[in-house]
Amino acid sequence: MSRYKISNFEEYFKEYKKSIKDPKKFWDKIASENFTWYQEWDKVVDFNMAEAEIKWFADAKVNITKNCIDRHLAKKGDKTAIIFEPNNPDEDSQSITYNELHQQVSKMANVLLSQGIKKGDRVCIYLPMIPELAITTLACARIGAIHSVVFAGFSASAVASRINDSECKMVITSDGGYRGNKTIDLKGIIDEALTNCPSVENVLVVNRINSSVQMKEGRDHWLAPLLEKASDNNTAEIMDAEDPLFILYTSGSTGKPKGMVHTTAGYMVYTAYTFQNVFNYEENDIFWCTADIGWITGHSYILYGPLLNGATTVIFEGVPSYPDFSRFWEVIEKHKVNQFYTAPTAIRALAKESLDYIQKYPLSTLKVIGSVGEPINEEAWHWYNDHVGGKRCPIVDTWWQTETGGILISPLPFITPTKPTYATLPLPGIQAVLMDEKRNEIEDNQVVGSLCIKYPWPGIARTIWGDHQRYKDTYFSAFPGKYFSGDGALRDEVGYYRITGRVDDVVIVSGHNLGTAPIEDAINEHLAVAESAIVGFPHDIKGNALYGFVILKETGEKRDKENLAKEINQHISAHIGPIAKLDKIQFVSGLPKTRSGKIMRRILRKIAEGDYSNFGDTTTLLNPEIVEEIKNGKI
Ligand code: WT7
Repeated sequence: MSRYKISNFEEYFKEYKKSIKDPKKFWDKIASENFTWYQEWDKVVDFNMAEAEIKWFADAKVNITKNCIDRHLAKKGDKTAIIFEPNNPDEDSQSITYNELHQQVSKMANVLLSQGIKKGDRVCIYLPMIPELAITTLACARIGAIHSVVFAGFSASAVASRINDSECKMVITSDGGYRGNKTIDLKGIIDEALTNCPSVENVLVVNRINSSVQMKEGRDHWLAPLLEKASDNNTAEIMDAEDPLFILYTSGSTGKPKGMVHTTAGYMVYTAYTFQNVFNYEENDIFWCTADIGWITGHSYILYGPLLNGATTVIFEGVPSYPDFSRFWEVIEKHKVNQFYTAPTAIRALAKESLDYIQKYPLSTLKVIGSVGEPINEEAWHWYNDHVGGKRCPIVDTWWQTETGGILISPLPFITPTKPTYATLPLPGIQAVLMDEKRNEIEDNQVVGSLCIKYPWPGIARTIWGDHQRYKDTYFSAFPGKYFSGDGALRDEVGYYRITGRVDDVVIVSGHNLGTAPIEDAINEHLAVAESAIVGFPHDIKGNALYGFVILKETGEKRDKENLAKEINQHISAHIGPIAKLDKIQFVSGLPKTRSGKIMRRILRKIAEGDYSNFGDTTTLLNPEIVEEIKNGKI
């Protein structure tokens, strides 16, 4: 058992208090007792919240893959590190032991070096959920290259803008991918993206679907023959605690992707600690997180958190609905999964289907079940509790963000009494506060406020790639001295937090964080469109869906609106990806704007929700008459 495991409620309170009273001492002990360092730190933490400058374990030397892999080899080299479950249940699953992972990551690291990738270079990884995704990501970390994993559902132009933003030198992709009964042409998407990416010198291609793809001479290389030639002897690069480990893009309030930068030591300590405690991982447990490694959930809780704890982690290539809606339950049964971590949108989609799909499977191996990505509504919580957890598995409703690196608020299983729709209590080290509009801390309970954290924790992102000012402005300026999450929350009488949703221009659709601005930019690029505004509205399965209000140019006015709506959605698919498609489009002649030209989204949100009861104060509107028009024009 690791030395940072909390075993009862009293201990949680004791640890929490210690972590607030003396955060330095608290994290110093965890870091020094549980990891392998080349050299320890001079200072545990150094920060200036006003400047958004944060350093943890400064001057320490470490390599995260030594901690994920090498240090486990002596005792558990033959333990399974990764179970790969393919999209098609008829294809064999694979087990990769820690010894094999060590060998494969070392070989891959040597391939990267032989292709001229050095410490600090950025490598874009655009792969389906196959073992190579984990191996290439870890290989980057091993040699100190900064990985930028881009979810393989993004379009060519979305990948291109991410590659260009961080000037990636290499792209790693596959010929294609399987997703349910479809195949996806990943190499084709990369070829299209790369027509516009001057920084990319080489592309490594994994053969996943045996399709014939175009290989550009001098640029594209099949990975398998390179691996075959590579030695499996690789010395991990010695990294500074604050050297960037990876960049992961998330949505923001402008169209430009926001490359969140996570650094090495703090992220390592925080994901390891939270994985152990939030999931109550015990030796020989099988852990399965259904997210994609292309999102932070996958980085922290498929890859790094589990491997840092020497756990067995499942990588699932498929989808919950293929070949039918029992796929998740079948995988849990097949691999004897003990901890299962998924998203409310998946739970709602599966709860809609017949109970026959789940009742065939006893799911008796499950001990802890988790939820992440958006608020889980009461109905879905109960379905999850009754039918998946059999009323015996605690549900950990984990609140966190790409920016936070790891989970910040969550029950500890078998320790914190759960309460439907509540993420409950902050983890040790997390000083959560609610702020009112006057920027004062809310002391009362049952009031909604802006959720902020007033002291840094090791896993917090350090900057936005190439734009520190934007990092400062987005997270540290609304409430000086504090990290502002962008979420609203409520605190109950015992101090439990309930996340109420975003208070900014981000909409969570099926658990995907979508900025409205980039979608509006994409729509506005359509030749017939003059202007647009996107808001979210409640949706039974997706949590929220997108509603677009679109003003047409004169040329557009003459066109068939149904076709135009289709074209707009195709446009969004091409620019961002199918996940950002609009469920509803309404063509309008104007948008409600304040005198300073800001769209009053609050009103559009109400219209989209079909709630015309109270639009609040509209006196600052430049064009109040438009509200009536939009309301009446709603189909
Ligand atoms: C946003 C962050 C980090 C995990 C995946 C999403 C929402 C996340 C919860 C939860 C209510 C949640 C928040 C947050 N969110 N978890 N348990 N309850 N809302 O990462 O894409 O960076 O999105 O997801 O609104 O700000 P992300």
